Amino acid sequence: MKNPDDMSFDEFDEYINPRAEETDFDRVLDRAMSRRDLLRSVVALGSVAAFGSTLMPKPASAAETRFAFDAIAVSTADDIRVPSGYTARVVTRWGDPLWSDAPDFDHATRGTGASQATSFGDNNDGMEVYPHGDKFILIANNEYSNRSVIWGNRIEGKYETDDDVLKGMNAHGLTVVEIEQNDGAWSIVKDSPYNRRVTPDVEMQITGPAAGHDLMKTNEDPDGLVARGTFNNCGNGSTPWGTYLACEENFNGYFATEDQEHPVTDAMKRYGISPKGRGYGWHEIDDRFDLAKESNEYNRHGYVTEVDATDPNSRPKKRTALGRFKHENAEVVVNGDGHIVVYMGDDERGEFLYRFVSDGVYAPGGETDSLLEDGKLYAAKFNDDGSGEWLELSPEATGLASMAEVCIHTRQAASAVGATTMDRPEWVSANPKAAEVYCCLTNNSNRGVKDDAGLALTNSGGDATPVGGPNPREANKYGQIVRWRPDAANHTSNAFTWDLYVLAGNPSVHTDIRAGSSNISAGNMFNSPDGLKFDSNGMLWIQTDGNYTNEEDFAGQGNNQMLLGDPTTGEIRRFLTGPLQSEITGLTWSPDRRTMFVGVQHPGERGAGHWPDGGESSTPRSSIVAVTRDDGGLVG
Ligand code: FEO
Ligand code: CA
Ligand code: CA
Repeated sequence: MKNPDDMSFDEFDEYINPRAEETDFDRVLDRAMSRRDLLRSVVALGSVAAFGSTLMPKPASAAETRFAFDAIAVSTADDIRVPSGYTARVVTRWGDPLWSDAPDFDHATRGTGASQATSFGDNNDGMEVYPHGDKFILIANNEYSNRSVIWGNRIEGKYETDDDVLKGMNAHGLTVVEIEQNDGAWSIVKDSPYNRRVTPDVEMQITGPAAGHDLMKTNEDPDGLVARGTFNNCGNGSTPWGTYLACEENFNGYFATEDQEHPVTDAMKRYGISPKGRGYGWHEIDDRFDLAKESNEYNRHGYVTEVDATDPNSRPKKRTALGRFKHENAEVVVNGDGHIVVYMGDDERGEFLYRFVSDGVYAPGGETDSLLEDGKLYAAKFNDDGSGEWLELSPEATGLASMAEVCIHTRQAASAVGATTMDRPEWVSANPKAAEVYCCLTNNSNRGVKDDAGLALTNSGGDATPVGGPNPREANKYGQIVRWRPDAANHTSNAFTWDLYVLAGNPSVHTDIRAGSSNISAGNMFNSPDGLKFDSNGMLWIQTDGNYTNEEDFAGQGNNQMLLGDPTTGEIRRFLTGPLQSEITGLTWSPDRRTMFVGVQHPGERGAGHWPDGGESSTPRSSIVAVTRDDGGLVG
């Protein structure tokens, strides 16, 4: 049995909610649909036009290519690689002090609770850079910590003291830091008045329908209006009024209690709340996280949190109107009529895609506080014929008692209306050049799989997860990117059409549907698309968080990577490869688009590698790198 904190989030879901033995994997794969069968079924269902554009993308002639670089090869090296003509340099790393009176990172001890509270957090993910006067303010999520890394100084790789737990806690949250560029290289500005850590201790306002509801009231906050902390923020969003959206993802694993028989309600089970924590130990130093001492704290996490990165004294706002689930990111679109539309994925096997539409409209310089507070929430239904619709999550439609309950028990609401169970929705990104939206469906080992008793595996709410629609592969190992186009190019329309932009796969190992769609070749293959962001040219950057063993089903795919896709031709080229055991996640640009900031998360998470500092004794450290063109040109 692995330590819970060494498990993937999928493995942790199964550990706290055991299912019957899964079927033998080879048998599962033998039952997978062949590529020919998929094409036939798509043709039969009448959506060949939709699939045709992706399975048979038009090759771009050299004259019309929109790629400014030659693709690079896969890598299994402990470094970061970019195409010829580009340079990648580290901007900041886990443990870099934000103030000059804070200690430098200690590779032997990996810091203390106090040093971590004043340093760049761990496992950076989503991020943005905001211009502010003549300053540049970087804000980044610090999603979580890996026990083997943060407590690698301890023999068991487990916390031994309360300060060890506090160190882990303070490694979470957000880091806000001013950055500057000198001689082409970006670095952090120590002691800037904008520097800030938003840790799991910082007070934030609860806004929207769930504010003040009984389920939000705790011993510490009997009014249910002020929560402390944001943690496990994965992807992000950014508003047109210049605020940052941090998205709370796997918030469940921080809650635990000593009594392993502590009752687990259906509502807890749906969100993976269990007496078995994931090994962070927070319940040992803070009663909020002990299920036996506090029964509502977990209802106050799993939201999107809005932060003004340019005001270090501002109080973050938990926007409950955007629902409670394992948020990946929050893609904000200003619709043609001014309504704010937010697209969001719930990253767990068999969970849903969501959309929020504001009641009010955005006007530059006008009131914005209500735009993420008052509106309607929807979940997506994808039909096999290439059509789809957004289903409103109202109390009437879901059978829940109030909008507050819809916003707290959002998964149950989406199950009630029959939304489509998806292959782990990760980042969503909207094309700035066309009314279309893309979402990474990273993988789903449970898709279409039955247990030994012959019962189909479900999501944690009991919803079926059959093969079909935008989730066309059994025991999906490689993932795909789905895209949809709202009717009449109106993001508030409830109707849309969809197709798949790419089915990732391995054509050097498989000849069936596991080879991937026809825009995948041995030269550009990858698995588990996760981070996703359009640049200002309408080109699509794809980041991976997948299997980096480079063996068997993943032979030839190397380390995690970042690729660029042309949404029109379907062409995909590899742009960047990461160091050993890292994930590439988080992406933004300097305002002049001459620097692209890329996140490198959890290098060496399984004990290999020493990136970025190198040498045999250095601790691997999550970092943000800046990618520039050697000729000073634009990078997206
Ligand atoms: Fe934190 Fe869904 O990745
Ligand atoms: Ca992710
Ligand atoms: Ca991920």
